[in-house]
Amino acid sequence: MSSTDPIRHIKDDRVQARRLDDTNADICFLALATPEGRASVRTLVLRDITQNRFLLFMNQSSPKWKILTGGGDYELLLWYPSMQRQYRVSGAMEIADDDFVKRSWQRRPRGSKYLDILYEHTIDQSSYTESREQLVGEISRIRREYVLDEMDAPQKVAGIELVATRIEMLDLNREDRIHDRRMFLLEDGAWAERVMIP
Ligand SMILES: Cc1cc2nc3c(=O)[nH]c(=O)nc-3n(C[C@H](O)[C@H](O)[C@H](O)COP(=O)(O)O)c2cc1C
Repeated sequence: MSSTDPIRHIKDDRVQARRLDDTNADICFLALATPEGRASVRTLVLRDITQNRFLLFMNQSSPKWKILTGGGDYELLLWYPSMQRQYRVSGAMEIADDDFVKRSWQRRPRGSKYLDILYEHTIDQSSYTESREQLVGEISRIRREYVLDEMDAPQKVAGIELVATRIEMLDLNREDRIHDRRMFLLEDGAWAERVMIP
């Protein structure tokens, strides 16, 4: 580790993880806490990293959107088994612009697009339904009624930018077997680095 830019490390690790067919190369784990302190965690696709911003794609009907935009706190976890490296990311959060949402939606698999239409008009993501048959029936109806190729992203499709100001790296892959743990803090536009006890 020679650079003090943790974003550079993460980007390099993702590229290398993809080369090594690491199944975690394109995903992340988003932990949230409501203002009352109720914790939750879920797997998400990490769509992109630009500067110190981690881009995620989600639906406004989901609990995670409500927590993120309702004053909740987050920590993002990246773990690349192929590299034996973990990153914990925290900071501020902003709503992503429409361009990102439009572009990401066009790349979405058809099944996910049908679900977004379901969340838009019928029922919130993560809510309960009568049975699986009822869900499958709803999706069949949407399939018949909507022509995906002619559609833009529904209104509730959204993106979040996690703006990192604090990144902790844990590297297990050391020859001397003493793990390397470091904290990177963004201060006045530059990353400051401190070594931590692993
Ligand atoms: C590999 C993987 C990738 C996922 N990617 C996304 C994603 O990019 N966006 C999303 O909203 N949910 C994604 N999910 C589903 C979430 O983990 C979660 O089940 C869903 O978003 C509902 O979360 P919530 O109830 O906390 O809002 C993914 C799940 C897995 C296993």
